[in-house]
Amino acid sequence: MTQRTIVITGASDGIGAAVARKLADRGDRLLLVGRRRDKIDAVARPLGADALVADFESLADVRSLAAEIRRRTDRIDVLVNNAGGVFADRVVTADGNERTMQVNHYAGFLLTNLLIDLLLAGDATVVNTSSVAAHAFAKLDMTDLDASGRFRSMKVYGDSKLANILFAKGLHTRFHDQGLSAVAVHPGAIASNFGKETGNVLVRLLYSTVLSRLLSTSESGADNLVWAVDGTPGETWVSGEYYEGPNRFPRRPNPQQNDAALADALWAESARRTGLDVARTPVPPVQE
Ligand SMILES: NC(=O)c1ccc[n+]([C@@H]2O[C@H](COP(=O)([O-])OP(=O)(O)OC[C@H]3O[C@@H](n4cnc5c(N)ncnc54)[C@H](OP(=O)(O)O)[C@@H]3O)[C@@H](O)[C@H]2O)c1
Repeated sequence: MTQRTIVITGASDGIGAAVARKLADRGDRLLLVGRRRDKIDAVARPLGADALVADFESLADVRSLAAEIRRRTDRIDVLVNNAGGVFADRVVTADGNERTMQVNHYAGFLLTNLLIDLLLAGDATVVNTSSVAAHAFAKLDMTDLDASGRFRSMKVYGDSKLANILFAKGLHTRFHDQGLSAVAVHPGAIASNFGKETGNVLVRLLYSTVLSRLLSTSESGADNLVWAVDGTPGETWVSGEYYEGPNRFPRRPNPQQNDAALADALWAESARRTGLDVARTPVPPVQE
């Protein structure tokens, strides 16, 4: 197998770190992204991987990260947009966006678009780590993406995970005919650092007490993502789709996940918020 170049965000802990460990055994070249230098170095060093740092609460950091990746490679075979979390309080970032949406969606959207030529050079697969929260909690309101009303952490988290699905669809629509494939995957309910900050008491209890023993391990979450990373688009999985594990579609999907107009509106709004030139991000072909 020829060596692949794989970028993984949120690789300093939990599922992302477990994905990195599984892929390192195969001889892939790994570029691992974390938000803190010490943590990402500790994961990357034993694997012989590159360690890159960016805090997704800052879009300037994401731009610097993209520039650094471009210095290190001219093609990417796989990008795993995995960094994310759920937060108890409403915070607006210096970029003017509600924090959950920025860390979980806009940052990955910006990074992917800034690297799009490298991804096209690699006929790449983009894997977005989504969540069942996309149908359990989400109802995306394009007029209130900053959750300016009552802040419910799991609702906002669900919205951001629905955005991960819509973003995979948007990538497919715009770039699949040029060789890029995109898929969104729920990794499972995983005992990691996730969920300890949510304002939802039940979810916090599940993730941060002895109840977390009921959850699966990061290794099992990683297996679900590696299934997508290693899969052949069109054979293993369908580009533009959302899976809840290998070959598993959600039983009760959020109807919004298949709303093409919503996917386009979110793409345009995400481009505007991340300072991308909307006119230069390609629009999908008009359906006859
Ligand atoms: N655990 C679950 O049950 C579950 C279920 C469905 C989906 N997911 C998704 O799986 C992904 C990974 O979560 P996990 O369970 O592995 O949780 P985790 O152990 O908390 O890992 C999250 C990763 O994202 C990074 N991250 C968080 N905020 C960041 C920021 N502002 N800038 C850059 N990186 C940031 C973390 O960096 P630090 O190490 O510095 O914190 C860490 O590397 C997330 O997208 C989550 O939504 C998790």
